Parts: sequence; structure tokens; C-alpha cells
Amino acid sequence: MSGTKLILGQVLDLVADPFKAPLGEAHVLHEALVVAQGKIAALGTKANLRAAYPEAEILDHGHALILPGFVDAHVHFPQTGIIASWGKRLIDWLNSYTFPEEMRFGDPAYGAEIAALYLDLVLCHGTTSVTSFCTIHPASVDALFTAAQERGMAVVAGKTCMDRDTAPPGLRDTAQSAYDDSRALIERWHGKGRATYAITPRFSPTSTPDQLAALGALWAEHPSCLMQTHLSEQTDEIAWVRGLYPQARDYLDTYEAHGLLGAGGLYGHAIHLVAREIDRLAEVDASVIHCPTSNTFIGSGLFDMAGLQARGLRIGLATDTGGGSSFSMLRTMAAAYEIGQLRHAPLHAAQLLWLATAGSAQAQHQSGDIGTLAVGSVADLCVLDLASTPAIAQRAQRANDIWEAVFPTLMMGDDRALIETYVGGVARLSAARARLARPRSSPRSAPLS
Ligand code: GUN
Ligand code: ZN
Repeated sequence: MSGTKLILGQVLDLVADPFKAPLGEAHVLHEALVVAQGKIAALGTKANLRAAYPEAEILDHGHALILPGFVDAHVHFPQTGIIASWGKRLIDWLNSYTFPEEMRFGDPAYGAEIAALYLDLVLCHGTTSVTSFCTIHPASVDALFTAAQERGMAVVAGKTCMDRDTAPPGLRDTAQSAYDDSRALIERWHGKGRATYAITPRFSPTSTPDQLAALGALWAEHPSCLMQTHLSEQTDEIAWVRGLYPQARDYLDTYEAHGLLGAGGLYGHAIHLVAREIDRLAEVDASVIHCPTSNTFIGSGLFDMAGLQARGLRIGLATDTGGGSSFSMLRTMAAAYEIGQLRHAPLHAAQLLWLATAGSAQAQHQSGDIGTLAVGSVADLCVLDLASTPAIAQRAQRANDIWEAVFPTLMMGDDRALIETYVGGVARLSAARARLARPRSSPRSAPLS
């Protein structure tokens, strides 16, 4: 927790959903905001807030852009070490890169090292909150929540459950152990500080119907938990699900039939949906999570943002580390824009920023708390230099309005754009950068052969 701070800059407050409100009414620009006891206490002009809070410590970020911290609504922190692995599509990619790496998390010390590394990386990219899959090992969940607690971050996470022989030996639990371990983790972490537990069947192909049913029962017993999984990412995967669950009406039905469809459900990817699936997701007010860099990187397809927005679904935005090719929500917004273009429905900068903040927060059922600058919300903020590289600076210089000034950073920016990341009003960027600069127990680079 911190003392009162007066933070100066170009404070961009998205006050309405720019998918619903006219663009002119969706934002307000302020000169400053006040943080008291870790929460946003006021927004306004410098002069007014200086007068109202004469004792506040002043942190002047000049013309930098102040936004809510980014919210990354679908990641796999254990895949940090295999991000940017070449040339496979989903099922081969899982078998070749993901499962061998996730096996290493049987060693709790490795899990703790990667959890700390991962959260420092995202803080350096302006991300203050994530929803993460862990591995089948309960210690991987402890590692992530512990590292998040040390950094003050709001994290949603759960033990990934897989009990079918489609997952490799050594990376399988059982229906009973998945239930027992998840329940123990819920008791240990759910609602403690800023931790939220998500019951986490990886996806239907790696769970037996018995495991899905056990996790559905667990969710019914703990309805304040979220539930995260994958849905209709690649066409080969959908065919696989059809073979494994011949009685199911469609992919979503494999979850629905086992108590795993509900308002607190976060369904990653959701690209190749059929009409019944969209109807049911909308009826129960579920969330779908768009992972654009992943969808292009592993060749999954083009998410239908306009169609699903029109159905009123909660839609979050996410990197899908490490199927996605970046830790950066800036890069992720750029990819979402490109997919919109390929669908002939380009997204406005305000819509991209909304998805990366309030949209993801809504998808995680944390609106009001994160992803917003509303008074009373937690002061999770990122501060962006809108001229962080010569290439961006020369474009931004010609801007005629705020959106033209912001858009080059959304399209071309990376972690160099970060001037500060505040979590609960505490500046966290330089410590995270310093930790990343220190030698790690695993070597930084090995000689090429
Ligand atoms: N489907 C099941 N597991 C995964 C995963 O780890 N990454 C992605 N992108 N899709 C999945
Ligand atoms: Zn995923």
C-alpha cells in the first residue's frame, strides 16, 4: 500500500464501451489522477487536484499516456521458456514443445523461477493482471500465486487438469486427483488477497468425461471460482473432439454436458464456432478470449470479433503465451487489428484499448476493480511513451488527435514504450527490469551448434 500520489500525464479514461457507445463519447482525457491507499481517488486537472491534495507526492510523467494496466485474459505462464517455437500447428506444437516443457514443472524450484520470470516480463510490458493456466502440478499454482502476491498483482490461475492417454505419461492426473488437488488449491488461494482460482480442464481432448464431470461438480460446489479452458481453436482439434465425444452435439457440448458451461467460464480462442455454440455462450453470459498472435502464429484462423460483439458476448484479449508470439499486449492489439482487417472489420484504437483493459477485466469478472480508471478501482496503471522509438516518434509527431497519437504505439510499440507500471499504486517497473537483468540459474544463452 502506498501514500497519496498525484500522477501527472495524459490520462486516457475509457468511460464507455466503444463497441457500444459513439466514439466521441467513449473517452475523457484528464491531466492527472490521484492514488490513495492503492486506489484511484480522483481524476481531473492538475490545478484542481494539486489544490485538493496538497500533501500528495507528485509523479510527473509529462506527455506520457496513462492507462489502466493491461489485462491478459489467457496465458500459460509455464510456456514462457518455449515461446516462439517454430513451425508446428496445435496438436504437434503441444506434443513437440509444450508437454516436454510442462513436464519440467515437476520440480517446484523450476516452477518458482519461471513464475517470477514470467511476471517480471509482463510487468515490463505494462500488464498488471493475467489469467493463467499452470501445469498439472499443484506446486506450479503455488508458484504463480506466490510470485503474484510478492508483486501485488491480481492473478487468476488454476491447476491444469489432464487425465486422458492423449497427454503423455508423467503429465497426467486422474479424475479424482484433479478434483482433490483443485479443491485444496481453491481452499489455499481463492479470494486470498488478489488471487482468484479458475478450475482448469486443459481442453476436452486431454480429459476423460469422468474428469470433466468431476471438475463440473467442483465448480458447482465453488460457484465463485472461474473456469477456464480451450474451445474450437483449430479444425483438426474439432475433428479430434468429435471422435473422442461421439455423442456430443458440438465442441461446447462436451463442456456443457459435464457442468462446465456457465457465466464464469472463460473459453480461449473460440474461432470455429457453430450457431448453437454461439447461442449457448450468449445465453449463459460466458466469456470468449481472443488470442490473435497465437491464432496467426500456430495457424488457427480468424476470430469473428464483429459477429461475437454483435451477440453481446464478454470478449477478452490475450497473448496466449507461449502459443502466442509475444508477452506484449501492444503487439496483441496490433494482431487483433490485423485480423480485423482480414475480416474487413478494422478495430478502432479505442476498441483495441478497451479489449486490452476493460474487456479483459469483464471477461475475468473483475470489472470495477481492474481494467478501468474509475474512482474506487485499484490503481493498476501503465504509463506509455508515445514516442518510444524514432520510427514511432516521427509518425506520432504528425498526429492531429489523441487517437492518431496513440495508434502508432499500439501498432509498433513494445516494452521500450513503458515508462512505469503501477500495481496498487506502487511503481513496479524498475525493480522488474533490474531482476530481469540479473543472471538466472538457467543459462541466458548457449553456444549454437
Ligand atoms: N489447447 C490446449 N492446450 C493448449 C495450449 O497450451 N495452447 C494453445 N494455444 N491451445 C491449447
Ligand atoms: Zn491456451
